[in-house]
Amino acid sequence: MRELSRKVAGIAASATIEISNRAKEMERKGIPVISLSIGEPDFDTPQHIKQACIEALLRGETHYAPSNGIPELLAAIAKKIVRENGFPCIPEQVMVTCGAKDAIYDAMEAVLNPGEEVLILDPAWVSYEPCVQIAGGRPVHHKLNEKTFQLDDSVLERLTSRTKMVVVNSPSNPSGAILDPRSMNLLADICQDYDLFALSDEIYEKLIFGKKHVSLASIGDMAERTITVNGFSKAYAMTGWRLGYAVAPLAILRQMSKIQQHSVSHPATFAMFGGLAALNGDQSCVEAMRREFQKRRDYIIQELTLMGFSLAPAEGAFYAYVKVEGDDLEIARRWLEEAHVAVTPGSAFHTPGWERISYAASMDKLEDAVSRIRRCKA
Ligand SMILES: Cc1ncc(COP(=O)(O)O)c(C=O)c1O
Repeated sequence: MRELSRKVAGIAASATIEISNRAKEMERKGIPVISLSIGEPDFDTPQHIKQACIEALLRGETHYAPSNGIPELLAAIAKKIVRENGFPCIPEQVMVTCGAKDAIYDAMEAVLNPGEEVLILDPAWVSYEPCVQIAGGRPVHHKLNEKTFQLDDSVLERLTSRTKMVVVNSPSNPSGAILDPRSMNLLADICQDYDLFALSDEIYEKLIFGKKHVSLASIGDMAERTITVNGFSKAYAMTGWRLGYAVAPLAILRQMSKIQQHSVSHPATFAMFGGLAALNGDQSCVEAMRREFQKRRDYIIQELTLMGFSLAPAEGAFYAYVKVEGDDLEIARRWLEEAHVAVTPGSAFHTPGWERISYAASMDKLEDAVSRIRRCKA
């Protein structure tokens, strides 16, 4: 066979998916694995959202839609951005995508030329780097302060004449940390001083404990250079719907739109009516899930601290990021093989020496997992 794409061959498979595959293989063999390795709410999609999708299907919303998304949803997203995220947005600046992932991919393709650099703040979610690479860009990593998970001036050392964009993810997967106003302002200053674009992934904005979410695009003139990415997966427990969105300056959105037109066209038309019901409907389902996550977070943080672990500030999302002594890959393997608890090693997020424990699992499972880890650690 002729050689396949070198660009794609050089991209690592997702370590989070590898661990969860091994956990599933063990489950198939009848081993009772507790999987705390994947970033997916364990709740079902709220009923009114499912109902809106069913009604759309029955009404015959089974045809192609405008490729940026159905106009009602574009308008609802633009309204939400102005109301909740605090920066100007018109429906023409919005594109509904096949999950936030698709929005991130389109953004990289739209902005980057070969060899241009994208600054990624570590620990960072697994898919940013491959998206940069597929788009022909070069990922440049910068580690956030290991205690505070905030940004300081040392980031300036990573900037070169090729730096084109910076990726921000607050609240963060995997650390759960939220960038404080100082870090956000520093980022905004850097983007302005070095004429950089920013991609702000705000998918966990609703899952936040005691702090306030700030959108990067709401700071200074950042709306003119920021692609804000968000979606329905985490806030509304809609991972399988594959529904996300991007909000960007018109010039960028037009380029992203071309990629969507010629690749996926748009997410399923009837699914977009579910998204519309999610945004326009009663938000108490979001708050109920957030409260449940907070209860679990309080429990797992307390137990892991009692076991002697130090943790990243778990201020949002649904992950405890735990510092471990020794090789994180080895420890994750040992927890899986001996304790039958699947977690994700920090190496997957460019920070070896940590484990990401997802607490998107029932309290029963978390209690069981805690006692298994305790036994394994002893
Ligand atoms: C930080 C972050 N961004 C984006 C995504 C992708 O979300 P979606 O399901 O909307 O593609 C995830 C999913 O794990 C995530 O953790």
